[in-house]
Amino acid sequence: MRTLSLLTAGLLLASGAAHAVDEAAAIELAKNNGCLSCHSAKEKIVGPAYSAVHEKYKDDKDAVASLVQSIQYGSKGKWGRIPMPPHPGMSPADIKTLAEWVMTIKP
Ligand code: HEC
Repeated sequence: MRTLSLLTAGLLLASGAAHAVDEAAAIELAKNNGCLSCHSAKEKIVGPAYSAVHEKYKDDKDAVASLVQSIQYGSKGKWGRIPMPPHPGMSPADIKTLAEWVMTIKP
């Protein structure tokens, strides 16, 4: 669990810790649903860094709703040529938590 708490601390620092999103729960969700094999907070892996997603949508008041759509149904053509697969098995509440969390990750 030490690794997880270090990771959590790093992301808390990165996000300013002011938002109401439960960071630890969001990180668990991201791990358990395979998000972190394609994404990280600051580095592009297969998909964009979450900080880059935040940066791109920070002035969009519908950002969370549109990220929910992308996570649930998949996304292509917004970041490059590799598409993100859909996540049909995840609950809408969990997807919303992840979308809100991504929008707290500042560069
Ligand atoms: C197989 C690799 C892969 C997995 C697994 C994956 N993603 Fe992605 N993700 C991508 C790629 C590639 C893109 C860019 C898609 C595009 O260009 O539209 C992306 C884009 C995104 C975006 C930006 C969408 C937008 O509308 O701009 C968010 C947010 C995101 N992913 C979150 C997640 C979350 C949360 C999970 C876990 C539930 C997840 N991803 C799992 C590869 C992945």
